[in-house]
Amino acid sequence: MRKQIAAANWKMNLTLQKGEELFDDIIALPHELKADQQAIFAVPFPYLAMAQQKVHGRKNAFIAAQNCYNKKSGAYTGETSVEMLQSLGISYVVLGHSERREYFNESNQFLAEKVNICLENNIHPIFCCGEALSVREANGQNDFVAKQLEESLFHLSAEQIQKVVIAYEPIWAIGTGKTATSEQAQEIHKFIRSQFAAKYGVAVAENISILYGGSVKGSNAKELFSQPDVDGGLVGGASLVASEFVAIINALK
Ligand code: 13P
Repeated sequence: MRKQIAAANWKMNLTLQKGEELFDDIIALPHELKADQQAIFAVPFPYLAMAQQKVHGRKNAFIAAQNCYNKKSGAYTGETSVEMLQSLGISYVVLGHSERREYFNESNQFLAEKVNICLENNIHPIFCCGEALSVREANGQNDFVAKQLEESLFHLSAEQIQKVVIAYEPIWAIGTGKTATSEQAQEIHKFIRSQFAAKYGVAVAENISILYGGSVKGSNAKELFSQPDVDGGLVGGASLVASEFVAIINALK
């Protein structure tokens, strides 16, 4: 059965001390993760070790990196390998966030290489996809997202694809306060699942968690997550506020 996931993406925010406080505040607030639910925290690289300690021994809580490099090791100053992440016990990596695609020119092909190196090292990619406003206005979102999936993921085997978490994040809803309606989210999540079903079969597609991202907050999470093909959220701004993120965890199906 696929997991229901509340994933925090801290992006380039907080100091080490503020990050520690945020973990402590979240831990102190009442929440419970059922067997098929997970909380994942994608924190900046310098805080990974601290974050690993904070979730140590906590059921169904995991730490993610926000990026990795596509090479195993070597003279790549400033980059971080999956082997390094694995040595810290990190189990997830966010790949293909629209901010990385836009500001660092990450292409679908480059992301396919990162996906491969993660899976070779037992790290689960949280693979982001999603269209810009101009694409949505031209009703081109399905074709746009299908191409992202096809070019970065469809070379994977049926076994490998089930290790990938998908995050659909419409760029027009990220950090704008403008959330996709639950109907819009359901419609495209269903389309994404149908793409996996066409490629890998229905049983495999049913096993893939598809998260929604874009202005998710405590007050809209329940409605979004109630949709049959929305398996949780990838949360930016609201994940920096303990009470908000705990409300999002508690809104999981
Ligand atoms: P916001 O929740 O701040 O809109 O960010 C969404 C996001 O980009 C998560 O990766």
